[in-house]
Amino acid sequence: MTSPLPESWSGRSALDRAHIWHPFTQMKDHEADPPIPVIAGEGCDLLLANGNRVLDGISSWWTCLHGHGHPKLMAALERQGAKLDHVIFAGFTHEPAIELAARLRSKLPPNLTRCFFSDNGSTAVEVALKMAFQAQLQKGQGQRTRFGALNMGYHGDTLGAVGVGELDNFMTGLFRPLLLRCERLAVPEDPRRELHVNLDGWVDRLEAARQSIRFFFENHGEGLAAFIAEPLLQAAGGMRMWPPEMLVELRAQCDAYGVYLILDEVMTGFGRTGSFFAHSQAGIEPDLLCLSKGLTGGVLPLSLTWATDEIYSCFWADYTEGKAFLHGHSYTANPLACAVACASLALFEEQPVLEQAAHLSQAMKSAWSRLGELPSIRKARILGTVAAAQLVDPGTGEPHSTESRFGWRLHRRALEAGLLIRPIGDCLYFMPPLGTPAARAEQAVDTITYLLK
Ligand SMILES: Cc1ncc(COP(=O)(O)O)c(C=O)c1O
Repeated sequence: MTSPLPESWSGRSALDRAHIWHPFTQMKDHEADPPIPVIAGEGCDLLLANGNRVLDGISSWWTCLHGHGHPKLMAALERQGAKLDHVIFAGFTHEPAIELAARLRSKLPPNLTRCFFSDNGSTAVEVALKMAFQAQLQKGQGQRTRFGALNMGYHGDTLGAVGVGELDNFMTGLFRPLLLRCERLAVPEDPRRELHVNLDGWVDRLEAARQSIRFFFENHGEGLAAFIAEPLLQAAGGMRMWPPEMLVELRAQCDAYGVYLILDEVMTGFGRTGSFFAHSQAGIEPDLLCLSKGLTGGVLPLSLTWATDEIYSCFWADYTEGKAFLHGHSYTANPLACAVACASLALFEEQPVLEQAAHLSQAMKSAWSRLGELPSIRKARILGTVAAAQLVDPGTGEPHSTESRFGWRLHRRALEAGLLIRPIGDCLYFMPPLGTPAARAEQAVDTITYLLK
């Protein structure tokens, strides 16, 4: 097979610019500042075509758990590839999917008994929204045509997911005329996650926030099919860490008003926040749970929507009653992805992955606390192995102007210094793979400190 690729990376970059439309990117920017070629991944590092090695401080869009190219995950991929690459999942089944369901079942709250496969976080959310609506409809609750969601939430880029995400920004606001009907609720950030904490007035603010949830449900509860939230950490909304007490209240109000609670753990799942799933820190159980990203350790696209028996039973009927959940994707339960996901889950049992993550979190906490003392940093905070802070102009204490593209420039400068970070607006965050050695994480925070001084 002859390759159409030019020999040099400059020739390849020209082809990229000629034909490829990159995600979340103003493509005009790439005329002056082309996409950076990556040629390999090794543990917590990425190797760039220019020979630089950079620490993957964003876990490759929050997916990579055990490091790149983990031998056990790669071996599982190879083994499965030799057996079965793909097969339709409607009317057929296979070992990796069954094993994955069984492995995960044992890690989930007992009420979640049924899983539905799709292939990315957005589709896991779409499935949950459709399931919730259809289940309510089939229970005679057809008036529940709206959803509830948190301000500043993010659940993906398909239209259903956009409809329950934050709309007050330039990425999603323009789609407003096309979207689902959604009522939004504000939750406060949790000051207890901050490394230079001030808890003045917190007890009163927490109680007021609880009251606002009750008020929200009094107003909207009867019309909602489901309420969706990212438990404890609103990631794309700016790494907003919110109180577990609010999640407990949400669960109680959903129960009181017959509203399903959908938890979107696409980003928070698989040990990222200090526990295997974030919701367990609040001691509650969702009715629907969305998983993706770390599900395959960050190797292949796959997602799951877990549902309760109660929801499942709403779809159980004779064929002619037309109650089935008629949804599916071509690559549903792809065997290669399922096999890698099984290998990733097995690693949690074979190795002290969560203990290592706790150790990493401690190291990140001390380093991040020092970073938090810089005049260009506000509100340094941490949850598990996700550290975040606000970038400000040290002269004014205010966020940098949008025109200055401070975050983008910091991202490019950090790459030169051997670190991949990618601030979201004013929000600087650092989220390396769980298996990153503590010393490498500390070094990365030193790099950020140096760049901000
Ligand atoms: C909480 C959450 N839900 C859903 C998604 C969408 O996932 P995907 O990009 O795989 O569609 C994301 C992506 O960042 C996410 O953070």
